[in-house]
Amino acid sequence: MAYLLGMDVGTTGVKTLLIEEDGRLVASAVEEYPMYTPRPLWAEQDPNDWWQAAIRSVQRVLRQSGVEARAIAGLGLTGQMHGMVMLDAKGQVLRPCIMWNDQRTAAQCEWIMNTIGRERFLELTLNPALPGFTAPKIIWTRENEPEIYAQAAKVLLPKDYIRYKLTGAYATEVSDASGTALFDVANRRWSQEVLDELGIPLDWMPTCYESPQVTGHITAEVANLTGLPAGLPVVGGAGDQAASAIGTGIVEPGLVSVTMGTSGVVFAYTEEPSRDPQGRLHTFCHAVPGKWHVMGVTLAAGGSFRWFRDTLGLCEREIARLSGVDAYDILTAEAGQAPVGCEGLLFLPYLSGERTPYADPNARGTFVGLTLRHTKRHLVRAVLEGVAYSLRDGLELFRDLAIPINQVRAVGGGARSQVWRQILADVFGTEIVTTNVADSTAYGAALLSGVGSGVYPSVSEACAATIRLIDRIEPQPAHEAIYNELYPIYRSLYHSLKPAFEAIAAIEQEEDLS
Ligand code: XUL
Repeated sequence: MAYLLGMDVGTTGVKTLLIEEDGRLVASAVEEYPMYTPRPLWAEQDPNDWWQAAIRSVQRVLRQSGVEARAIAGLGLTGQMHGMVMLDAKGQVLRPCIMWNDQRTAAQCEWIMNTIGRERFLELTLNPALPGFTAPKIIWTRENEPEIYAQAAKVLLPKDYIRYKLTGAYATEVSDASGTALFDVANRRWSQEVLDELGIPLDWMPTCYESPQVTGHITAEVANLTGLPAGLPVVGGAGDQAASAIGTGIVEPGLVSVTMGTSGVVFAYTEEPSRDPQGRLHTFCHAVPGKWHVMGVTLAAGGSFRWFRDTLGLCEREIARLSGVDAYDILTAEAGQAPVGCEGLLFLPYLSGERTPYADPNARGTFVGLTLRHTKRHLVRAVLEGVAYSLRDGLELFRDLAIPINQVRAVGGGARSQVWRQILADVFGTEIVTTNVADSTAYGAALLSGVGSGVYPSVSEACAATIRLIDRIEPQPAHEAIYNELYPIYRSLYHSLKPAFEAIAAIEQEEDLS
């Protein structure tokens, strides 16, 4: 029996796990690190923190599992997407990584879209340049830190920096490269035209592979440091969303995942690159060779629920502390007691602005429709329903593109709640299933390493050998009818409130400047 390693270089820490080829989880370890916000809206991390955490997490997994390192067939990498790690000609990190959730580059995005022309840029990369993406960060560095830019020789994504440390190879793969705004997503290669127009040299970009391909091998030095076998193949892996989709079995038409983490993501497999003409969805290469995916992102999904727990759930947190029951479970039980549709109370989950369908950093979270009848139970249920409506916005864009939605598979912390899964089923009008895989992101990367090292013949056979459905929730027609009536009202609210959101943001900006 072969063993496979998956490593997720995430936003809060590195998670490494080891699975057996039949899919059984053998061991896993998480090592955390800080995120720095030197200014409002900035988000940075030290790539050396990732590297130290990566070493420690591998050491712990090997120790815990007791598995002989020689029995491990491959390592797959995944991680937070879009970040910019800039290196000099000797491979030294030049500045902290500017992360996916950093919002400093609005002006650079506008410059990129104007320089190339919006339509041409969408044709070339299939996506608009968004502040989270990599290219505007490179331009920002050129404009604001010319002495650093002058020394640049390579630009890597976060997981690919760890690959460089593990193998010495400058490499990436198509799914993560898709989120750089420098990639020709339809043809699965760097876009020479975009790079030329932006004045970024092609040789700064790493060699790009398909996700299951072997990109390098563990060096002797790293073998000494970690206990991994020297020469272990390291495959391309995938950006965190594509890797999670592999770990959830989203490898054929009709399958869609909904990830309920801090952000919420709806993700669909597509045979061809499908693009929303207005660029509201992300169209990226999938980790299945020669296939694509679309995805919509609700920035504050679990994040809205966490906000509710932390600001309005003081009682529940106290009960949780005394009883040992999770505060989220107490809150979802309360939500379960409020009527479907919350008697007209609606919540807009734009606590961190929004990405899909409105790429609008000025959007704000809002409760609308409060009356004296409403209780805290209604408030918490409205938050869960509001997140579901926002994710449905993404699904509606899939439907507009005639992308089939036969089954939705729920993953992530929020998907543990049966109440929330029922709300999702009722708001989406689809069945919601869950699988045996809890940490789908690192797990997906491990499966990709199994394909690259020859343990499985293909990505879909890897999924078939390991992933099983364990729970199924059907939509309830009476609930669906209520949500179908409320959803258009929910949708209209953003448009009605947009002028107010803009006015509020303008006042905040003035306050920031004064
Ligand atoms: C995807 C995205 C996030 C980050 C961090 O577009 O921004 O998934 O990769 O998790």
